[in-house]
Amino acid sequence: MALIDIINHKKLGLALSAGEISEFAAAAKDPGTPDYQLAALLMAIRLKGMDARETAELTLAMAHTGDMLTPSVGGVAVDKHSTGGVGDTTTLILAPLVAACGGKVLKMSGRGLGHTGGTVDKLESIPGFQTELPEEEFLRITREVGCCVVGQTGELAPADKRLYALRDVTGTVDSIPLIASSIMSKKLAGGAQAIVLDVKCGSGALMKTREDSLLLARAMVDIGRRNGRRMSALITRMDEPLGSRVGNALEVREAIEVLSGRVKGPLLQVALALGSQMLLLSGLSDTAEQAEEMLVVALESGQGLSKLAEMITAQGGDARVCRDTGRLPRARHERPVLARDSGWLRAMDTELAGEAARLLGAGRKRKDDVIDPAVGYMTFRRLGDRVEAGEEVARLFHNDEKLAEQAEEALLNALTLSSGQIIPAPWVLARIDQDGKESSL
Ligand code: URA
Ligand code: CA
Repeated sequence: MALIDIINHKKLGLALSAGEISEFAAAAKDPGTPDYQLAALLMAIRLKGMDARETAELTLAMAHTGDMLTPSVGGVAVDKHSTGGVGDTTTLILAPLVAACGGKVLKMSGRGLGHTGGTVDKLESIPGFQTELPEEEFLRITREVGCCVVGQTGELAPADKRLYALRDVTGTVDSIPLIASSIMSKKLAGGAQAIVLDVKCGSGALMKTREDSLLLARAMVDIGRRNGRRMSALITRMDEPLGSRVGNALEVREAIEVLSGRVKGPLLQVALALGSQMLLLSGLSDTAEQAEEMLVVALESGQGLSKLAEMITAQGGDARVCRDTGRLPRARHERPVLARDSGWLRAMDTELAGEAARLLGAGRKRKDDVIDPAVGYMTFRRLGDRVEAGEEVARLFHNDEKLAEQAEEALLNALTLSSGQIIPAPWVLARIDQDGKESSL
């Protein structure tokens, strides 16, 4: 079947057959296929949609355009995936905690693009840390240490790689079936048997509303279930940065402080909620409450921090950062950000807050931009807090005065103050279980 016929079918709003879908995935991998045909089909899908069967078939077909790993790690290989947020360092907290409880966390992570940070970039701020390891090596580390975080290899779902790049420049990113199949094709290829999804919701997330977040969560859970994976999804709030620090080395430092028991708050809360789903799906606990207790014991006994140190050592990094965060890269200058007005913090344009970090050099606009691991900022106010004009609401850590001015402007513009106090929503907004049902935690 020619691609033009598949484009015409989707243009008319028909459901594509299994044969048409595998043809599409194969065409996406084939360098001989012109971009304009793929782009036309993507736009037809963006406008006419795909049902659950088509979405699941497209996901598997894209996964099969590259390597399919079947990791043997001495237990249930469990992965966690976030749809991307600002100050979201949960992986660095939950991976060692889950490992300390007997879990086998094999995480293939991306680099940051746009306003959200990537776990691989954060880890690379640790001197010596390697995120590109041969397959046997990352499987051995997962088996022996219990957690390993590596970069995504180019051989996983190459069809998605090309389609994602095309979507980025053709206005076709915002399609739930395309997002769900893109993310899940890489997860299926990575071979995790259990997958916990953190679907972020709000001004700093891909999904801005609760309704869209639930739709995306259900679509991804459904894909995983149809492909024999144990699935669970949490919808979590991303209408302000999750941690208090934004920037690569700064976020590693915050994760270490959380694992040392010195810092609590929403970052820990969300990490525990996701981590307990990972233990549940791994069969290491019977209830979420029991799982959370196990994680808290691992935290309070210091086993979580020891696991992080073990993982850092296994991946070639300097584990002394776990005792002395002063060994992480540090920016040369600091700059307090002072509030211009008084009021209650009502809203935060979190995408703009992410942009502030990118402006400082903590993130990328284009794939090949070079990042500065040391720069970023720390915030002192959360939604619902009181702000007085002239007081310090954030502190920038920077290496360039001009960039700091721009970032300060962006950060202040991201804040909306009001005369009445608001009460923020809970951090975990909902959970979608294996059967797509919404359930309480
Ligand atoms: N992340 C992905 O990998 N794919 C998407 O389509 C969106 C976010
Ligand atoms: Ca991410």
